[in-house]
Amino acid sequence: SALLNSSLKQSEIRRRAIQAATLLMEAEAGSLLLLDELTGELYFEVALGEKGKEVREIRLKPGQGIAGHVVQTGVPVIVNDVQKDPRFSRAADDKSGFVTRNMVCVPVKAHTKILGALQAINKKGGGLFADDDLQTFVSLAHQVGIAIENANLYEEINRLFEGFISASVQAIESRDPTTSGHSERVAILTCGLAQVVDRVDRGPYAGVQFNDDQMKEIRYAAVLHDFGKVGVREHVLIKAKKLFPGDLDLLKARFDFIKRTLEVQALRRKVEILVSQGKTAAAALLSQLDEDLARGMKEVDELLEFLLKCNQPSVLSQQGFERLDQIAKLSYESFDGSKPYLTAEEVRMLSIPAGSLTLDERREIEGHVTHTYQFLSKIPWTKSLKNVPSIAYGHHETLDGTGYPLKISSEMIPVQTRMMTICDIYDALAASDRPYKVAVPATKALEIIEEKARRGQVDAHLFELFVEAKIYTRVRKL
Ligand SMILES: [Fe+2]
Ligand SMILES: [Fe+2]
Repeated sequence: SALLNSSLKQSEIRRRAIQAATLLMEAEAGSLLLLDELTGELYFEVALGEKGKEVREIRLKPGQGIAGHVVQTGVPVIVNDVQKDPRFSRAADDKSGFVTRNMVCVPVKAHTKILGALQAINKKGGGLFADDDLQTFVSLAHQVGIAIENANLYEEINRLFEGFISASVQAIESRDPTTSGHSERVAILTCGLAQVVDRVDRGPYAGVQFNDDQMKEIRYAAVLHDFGKVGVREHVLIKAKKLFPGDLDLLKARFDFIKRTLEVQALRRKVEILVSQGKTAAAALLSQLDEDLARGMKEVDELLEFLLKCNQPSVLSQQGFERLDQIAKLSYESFDGSKPYLTAEEVRMLSIPAGSLTLDERREIEGHVTHTYQFLSKIPWTKSLKNVPSIAYGHHETLDGTGYPLKISSEMIPVQTRMMTICDIYDALAASDRPYKVAVPATKALEIIEEKARRGQVDAHLFELFVEAKIYTRVRKL
């Protein structure tokens, strides 16, 4: 029974229960029938074919067969002449070609709940099952019931946790719909790479293996690696241009107002001229004014056009900075005096040299790694999963110590994290999910990572395996 309870896998428990039943009862065969709670049917697997390699599931209707009867009554039975028993169901024998002569069948319970029935079939040496046999078999069935119940509970907890994880992932990704699916894809890629590393028999990772628990640890770390984005303010998280959308609207409205101001100034001049000179005499002056106004309007349009270009997340040139500076010095006449074309904050934003983020905003986004670590550290992980927080924590570190947030270098970065980093960069490049960039083709993404490997930032050996095993093809083309 110790053997029985050491496993939490249903299939393993079933196998061991049958083995124990046959051994203990000195029987030719054994079977464990489980109750399907929804239908009330009993189901079990029989081995088919010469070597019993093919397995088929057989289902008994409620009450059908000796086992069905035992499950309904809850009373163990010994049937020493099965073929003459009217309750006997031939279904299994017909399928397996096995001939059942006699059997002992007892209910499998957890507390008072019936989970199924355990059978030992055909006493070895042509003998019969005796009443004495029944007691030992009942206690074996009791152990089996507890083992199944434990496995069920374990499965339930596991499902609960998995459900909680996927709800968390949904929470991260619903804040930034443009990155939806990223966490799941990084998990698929990282687990794929981990399997390759586990199998590889040459190079520096030949000795690295991951057991089931470690694989699970890698998957949880990968799927939750960006969870900390919940701690980044949304407008920063999804910022695509140098100015926030509302600020851009304000700037456009101001430039409209500047044009209207120029128009009003010109009209005022016209009225003055007409009043003082009369229509004919003023004609030449008026058309001069119209020309000046048209030129002025065009200039403002061009300035705005330039500012819209500056607002793009691309790199700003030296001349660009200078022109921005000149525009910042311009002013227009409003109701309450002279006003600058651009506010100091707008100049600061539009002067971002590359990308869409100011230094503070970049730091805030980079802070997601620390948030992830803090969040994951709050979960009381089981012993076998205790490294989930630290594996996730390092996903933006580089081997040369130029990453963030800790700037640790290679010896400190576990292989699990190195794998995740490659997969994270790949997905960030190849998926069209970032506000500030379009997706690049797979080959281009691989080239970019290869360059990082050459510069000693990502692990070159792992990257080689990533490419060789075509891990990147495991996520569908986006
Ligand atoms: Fe990240
Ligand atoms: Fe990521």
